[in-house]
Amino acid sequence: MAGSSKFPLAALVDLESLIDLEGGTISRKLFSDQILYQFEQEKIFARSWLFVGHESLIPNAGDFFTSYMGEESIILARGKSGEIHAMLNSCRHRGTRVCRSDHGNTAAFYCPYHGWSYDSAGRLIGVPHYAEGYQGKLDRSKWGLIPVAQLANYKGSLWATWDASAPPLEDYLGGMKFYLDLALDATDGQPGGSEVIGGIQKWIVPCNWKLGAENFGVDHYHGVSHRSVDTAAIGPSGKGRRDLDGMQIVDVSFPGRGHGASARINHNHAAVFQNYPAVAEYFKTALAQRRRRHGDGADIWGGPGTIFPNASIQGFQPRTFALWHPRGPRETEVWRFYLVDRDAPEEVKDVLRRYFMRYAGPGGMTEQDDMENWRTATEGARGVIGSRYPFNYQLGLDRQLAPNPLVPGIVTMDNLDAPSEGGQREFYRRWLRLMSAAD
Ligand code: FES
Ligand SMILES: [Fe+2]
Repeated sequence: MAGSSKFPLAALVDLESLIDLEGGTISRKLFSDQILYQFEQEKIFARSWLFVGHESLIPNAGDFFTSYMGEESIILARGKSGEIHAMLNSCRHRGTRVCRSDHGNTAAFYCPYHGWSYDSAGRLIGVPHYAEGYQGKLDRSKWGLIPVAQLANYKGSLWATWDASAPPLEDYLGGMKFYLDLALDATDGQPGGSEVIGGIQKWIVPCNWKLGAENFGVDHYHGVSHRSVDTAAIGPSGKGRRDLDGMQIVDVSFPGRGHGASARINHNHAAVFQNYPAVAEYFKTALAQRRRRHGDGADIWGGPGTIFPNASIQGFQPRTFALWHPRGPRETEVWRFYLVDRDAPEEVKDVLRRYFMRYAGPGGMTEQDDMENWRTATEGARGVIGSRYPFNYQLGLDRQLAPNPLVPGIVTMDNLDAPSEGGQREFYRRWLRLMSAAD
């Protein structure tokens, strides 16, 4: 279905009939239809800024980490001078993957099919039978790995786009940068003072990728899903998720951009980790430093959020990136990166690592609740009868939106008793605009 100039989406699907944001309904086809899915790859994933990794995963020259942009594998590689390259993991000869490992260190990527090889910058450096086979006519400088159009390193997080005309990443983020900072800065406020804990959790969920993205950006209505977690000893204080008590939660959206985020105001980390004295002490010291740095803003923490289209973040514990890689209309490959303060003692990092795994990821309690709901929501979107009826996005539809002086964005929900789907409506407004765009 690539080459939509021949078959414009508008000729195949009446997009406007699928999404009614004023009425608060969205067609179930968005979560199951193969044609829409194929156009999403071209109109959304080939054009947006996508989170691809973190520089702490490739600290040394020759290090590499394979990631995804939409369905396509890419290589992030650290060159000899410390510079980072991002390129399509596909040989220019017949397309085979030239890097078959998740991460490692190498002087060159050797294609397993016919043996072409490429350096860390993607340059074609080796061609078997070069002289006699190509009579010296193959111009190796024209057959390097395909580089991304733009690569950005924001406080250690790596982002890429295939669109050379895309605005700079910071313009793309807009006010969402504030929430990304809350995920990337250290607890003491040190800008970008985080690192990724080695080992990315990766697994397949039989659901449409947008269900994860819209849940994080932000669905505070689904608390009922996690009732079992509220009573389980998942939290570091041993109080289930009730260790979140006492906070104010503010959800915001960014009209026109499609991002959604959540801030948590006033939270006592030291009390949460009371069962781990070394961790509680660490947070106490870090918080004092944060207050010196940020003053009144020191007690704002990042809740869940989604940077359109598929990078979700959580600045609050567990501090994480969740990626929703599309794998067909009914399948998603989920990746979880966990972040900790780079300068924290190993003991603190280890307690947090265990807590993150209890909370999120394929074996984490909250994620298991969510995955099961998204699986059957996708099932409910594909039936002949079910797909005739739209999903309901009317929650908080008539709510008056007002700015909150503490947090950037348009407030969609600032009270757990009056939740809203405002952020999700903005996500689909952006989706519709991109999908409707002429090529
Ligand atoms: S496909 Fe890579 S060398 Fe032939
Ligand atoms: Fe959830």
